[in-house]
Amino acid sequence: MENLFFSRKQIREGMDMKKFVTYLAMSAAVMGGASQIGTVQADAAEGEADLPFPDERMLNISHRGASGYAPEHTIAAYELGVEKKGDYIEVDLQMTKDGELIAMHDETVDRTTDGTGRVGEMTLEEIKQLDAGTWFNEQNPEMAKPEYAGLEVPTLREIFEHFGKSKHYYIETKSPDVYPGMEEKLNELLEEYKLTGVNGRSSNVIIQSFSQESLLKMNEINPDLPLVQLISRPDQEGTSRLDEIAEYAIGVGPSFSRIKQMEGGADYISKVREKGLLIHPYTVNTEEDMLLAMQWGITGVFTNYPDRFRQMLKDYNH
Ligand code: G3P
Ligand code: CA
Repeated sequence: MENLFFSRKQIREGMDMKKFVTYLAMSAAVMGGASQIGTVQADAAEGEADLPFPDERMLNISHRGASGYAPEHTIAAYELGVEKKGDYIEVDLQMTKDGELIAMHDETVDRTTDGTGRVGEMTLEEIKQLDAGTWFNEQNPEMAKPEYAGLEVPTLREIFEHFGKSKHYYIETKSPDVYPGMEEKLNELLEEYKLTGVNGRSSNVIIQSFSQESLLKMNEINPDLPLVQLISRPDQEGTSRLDEIAEYAIGVGPSFSRIKQMEGGADYISKVREKGLLIHPYTVNTEEDMLLAMQWGITGVFTNYPDRFRQMLKDYNH
């Protein structure tokens, strides 16, 4: 079978028409009937240079670490993210009763540990007693490893201590309305570990949130931080907020499954790019979705399988 992948350069510069038609047909087969495919993406608009990576590089963000292989938001999952060639470690933040920033997706510890309760009503000492790995072994026997049992919930400080300044972090302020002061604490830690730069290019972090208020607060505290606005319903809000977002953020992180449900998903992505915004959809896990995302001209993905996306990028940009 002819190689399914064409480089973005080939697509931009125009390929042989017969080859291109074959490519679209094969893409359609791979996509299982997805309605919008093979869209040629316009060149990036200005603004994309605000990243510590070359403009052409599609970012591979290890979602909650390489969470397809190890219990999410543990040092083990983050290590695997690095090992499997993710560019960024994604960290969701919650804050304990005694004001410690910890890595956890949910507001309660129930789903990802052996305990119960709200993070905001527990001390760090209490959180540290919990087992953050056994649930994964039980739910994913094919990925289970004895060393995952008993893993701790890491603090953000421990993550920075462990991985240092040579790694890149994509940090989400979760439920900021529940945790007043979260943004200030985050910025203090970033500065202590010297992870912010004078501009996006020299920064080791990107800050993301569904909360515009939280991002604006981060921007006020430290205007040099590169920010990404997460969007849960791009299908509902369309492009209506993009101009406003471009005032404070370098990009958007929309739900990929919602983009796929849109009438003009490819069009939406083109419009985001025309505004000079990066687009990092979540969560892109299958090869089919990765291929579609690349064809649509995304500039990065959140994925539980950074090794899979790395391989797809290699094939696509051969
Ligand atoms: O931060 C991008 C993506 O992770 C948002 O969804 O629920 O996985 O934090 P969630
Ligand atoms: Ca997240």
